[in-house]
Amino acid sequence: MWEYTDRVKDHFVNPRNVGEIENPDGVGEVGSLACGDALRLTFKLDDKKRIKDVKFKTFGCASAIASSSALTEIVKGKTLEEAEKVSNQDIANYLGGLPEEKMHCSVMGKEALEAAIANYRGEKVTQEEFEIICKCFGVTDREIERAIRENNLKTVEQVTYYTKAGGGCAGCHPKIEALIEKVRKEMGKEVPVAKPEKKKLTNIQKIKLIEETLGREVIPALKADGGDLELIDVQGDKVYVALRGKCSFCPSSEFTLKQYAESKLREFVGEDIEVEEVRP
Ligand code: FES
Repeated sequence: MWEYTDRVKDHFVNPRNVGEIENPDGVGEVGSLACGDALRLTFKLDDKKRIKDVKFKTFGCASAIASSSALTEIVKGKTLEEAEKVSNQDIANYLGGLPEEKMHCSVMGKEALEAAIANYRGEKVTQEEFEIICKCFGVTDREIERAIRENNLKTVEQVTYYTKAGGGCAGCHPKIEALIEKVRKEMGKEVPVAKPEKKKLTNIQKIKLIEETLGREVIPALKADGGDLELIDVQGDKVYVALRGKCSFCPSSEFTLKQYAESKLREFVGEDIEVEEVRP
């Protein structure tokens, strides 16, 4: 279950600076509805070139709304040079912390601000010069490398928490591992070694472990957001589940399945587990 701080809850229930500024000096948009999170940020400067007003519109979870709200409060009154120094960790710290699984919301805020400042300066932000590493979520090598460097990330799972990359089909995991190794070597940090193999389970042990893991690691978190998940069947390494409640029509249900269900089952049950949704 997500442990949200009182400050996160407050900014979620009473978000500050919601909306859009007319004739803004800068506009930044990041994310996409298809990926479950999107954020549009607009700002206006005063005659001293400080951010006089800043507003946001977002589509996303409680953390995305709270992070966007916090960002607008942090940057109000700052010059653009001061504002661009605000990191995703500053946003999380302002909120008293975010669950690690939700850190991509703070990263999205930072990226929207950068896009809005680039827009003000007339700079073109083009993704073409960067390689798309995660095709499921359209995340580039630049975004992943930066998240690793700025947040001292060590594992693919953490990269997914901070950028969403790797949270779908898992096809990009080898490339993400290679980026972790490259960036951590550049930083002079230790490179994590591969996890030891899990012992072989009988079918009954495996099904029990899957049930336990879903019940302990996955379902409480989904229930906290108004959703649920039901285990339907297990065949070899394929785990068939049905999403219930809000999860059943959530645009990021694929992310939920892969990120929360599959990654937890791979961590606690077996590396080859694949989760598939059974639809009515
Ligand atoms: S390509 Fe990254 S999760 Fe599918």
